Amino acid sequence: MSEVVILQNVSKIYGMKHEAVHALRDVSFSIEHGEYVSIMGPSGSGKSTCMNIIGALDRPSSGLVRINGSDTAAMEEHELAMLRGRAIGFVFQQYHLLTSMTVLENVMLPLRYMGFDKQARRKRALEVLEQVSMSDRVRHYPAELSGGQKQRAAIARAMAASPEIVLADEPTGALDSETGALVLKMFEQVNRSGTTVILVTHDVAVAREARRRIKIYDGVIVEDTCV
Ligand SMILES: Nc1ncnc2c1ncn2[C@@H]1O[C@H](COP(=O)(O)OP(=O)(O)OP(=O)(O)O)[C@@H](O)[C@H]1O
Ligand SMILES: [Mg+2]
Repeated sequence: MSEVVILQNVSKIYGMKHEAVHALRDVSFSIEHGEYVSIMGPSGSGKSTCMNIIGALDRPSSGLVRINGSDTAAMEEHELAMLRGRAIGFVFQQYHLLTSMTVLENVMLPLRYMGFDKQARRKRALEVLEQVSMSDRVRHYPAELSGGQKQRAAIARAMAASPEIVLADEPTGALDSETGALVLKMFEQVNRSGTTVILVTHDVAVAREARRRIKIYDGVIVEDTCV
């Protein structure tokens, strides 16, 4: 099976009764292994909600979600955590690096849950840091890095456990356009190595980096095109 993400008639409702917000309404799409997809829409359109559901951080109110072959609706929290750890690498706008750890330690962290010993974790972390041109900053702390360097370290962390899917929510949102372009080049490289990349953004120029573009508006998919 080559479909790594399947959403079928997925709805997400936050709150209840008169306060209810329909963040996703009857959303259906699937993503195949190795695709590079952007999910684009204005603020409040449901992008992060969609990303949280794809990333097994949240479950839908209704509908079917299958991530890397697992139905998340039926899964317990610890099973979702295992799925996230094995199959998904996350990249966020604000990096989410641990400030008390060096770049190397941050990138080694996800490998701890994969049964790697310390030496193997170190070796793999150095390898992915080299791929994002961060070999000369491995002993630095996040506070000692530029925004672009922080995001490259975060991409290395996302890639460390060789996930099936890399999910990025506004990864260039805090960067100037030049640095943002460099970071987008890294995602292109990640995708070329065979990883499925899903990029969430409100920025049309960023969305155009992906070969497949899904547009969401008010919780509804309004466009899904491949170039
Ligand atoms: N935890 C929550 N509780 C209640 N409502 C929520 C919650 N999270 C999101 N929403 C609502 O769901 C809708 C979609 O939110 P979402 O965060 O998915 O939008 P977004 O497209 O990511 O926006 P942005 O570009 O601003 O990040 C919004 O109307 C929002 O107010
Ligand atoms: Mg969002």
